[in-house]
Amino acid sequence: MAEATGNQDAKDYGIGIPQKSEGYFLKGNAHVDWGIKDRLSRIFNPKSGRTVMLAFDHGYIMGPTSGLERMDLTIVPLIPYADCIMCTRGALRQIVPPTSNKPISLRYSAGSTVLTDLNDECVMSIEEAVRLNASMLAIMVAIGCKKFEADTVRTLTKTIDEGARFGIPTLGVTAVGKELVRDARYLGLATRVCAENGAHVIKTYHCKPDFEKIVAACPVPIVIAGGKKLPELEALQMAYEAIDQGAAGVDMGRNVFQAEHPVAMIQAVRAVVHDNKKPKDAFDLYQTLKNKS
Ligand code: 5RP
Repeated sequence: MAEATGNQDAKDYGIGIPQKSEGYFLKGNAHVDWGIKDRLSRIFNPKSGRTVMLAFDHGYIMGPTSGLERMDLTIVPLIPYADCIMCTRGALRQIVPPTSNKPISLRYSAGSTVLTDLNDECVMSIEEAVRLNASMLAIMVAIGCKKFEADTVRTLTKTIDEGARFGIPTLGVTAVGKELVRDARYLGLATRVCAENGAHVIKTYHCKPDFEKIVAACPVPIVIAGGKKLPELEALQMAYEAIDQGAAGVDMGRNVFQAEHPVAMIQAVRAVVHDNKKPKDAFDLYQTLKNKS
């Protein structure tokens, strides 16, 4: 406890030394509140500005997806290799050990499933996200979806407002319906709409050609989803191209947990994202780790 008497006089004022004022390493987020920056700094490595997020929220629309039937057996061993985990609140409470100490990108919106029309979604309460210590709130945004486009943008807007009250950033996830093409024109529009509405980070798909134009025109960081399972070398190639073209990381699910050896695959993805490994070298690492175990 501070004493009322006998204290040393304050004398180290650093007169003449300007107070340091650091910039912020993630684009488009220099002027957000301290709590949001702190949470983003847990998700993205402040040195590289990159992240490897592990997505396993698929069950909320798809049920027991291949590789996610027993998440306690398949996902828990991958968590130590992820910079951030993206999952539902159900999965979090049911299988993620609270001792994992990983930032959580919480699937914050929910609604219809693959059995009906996707993207008819509502959000949970912000108190629940705070209770779960979420580091980011993930919202599906269905730009171009005739039925639910405006609803999902409303959901995004509401979430950004609610999250800001508690210093929690929002991830805009560009949903792609069956009728929409994953080209640069569409993805460029969808990512920009999310950013203009205030999303702090955007998750979208890699596309060819012109992914670098999507990144350039998106004023906040982009992470890519992996999409459907590809052969491991192709998935590493996709991650490499995305990073090379300016993505700030990956938020991959199926291409990790459906790989022949998921623990080796997530380490190979890390080598691409954090160590700038070429796809072939990362694939060699994958083979070596796979054979070792
Ligand atoms: C859809 C999602 C998934 O988390 C996303 O698609 C990532 O998974 P994958 O790499 O398997 O595409 O946002 O709800």
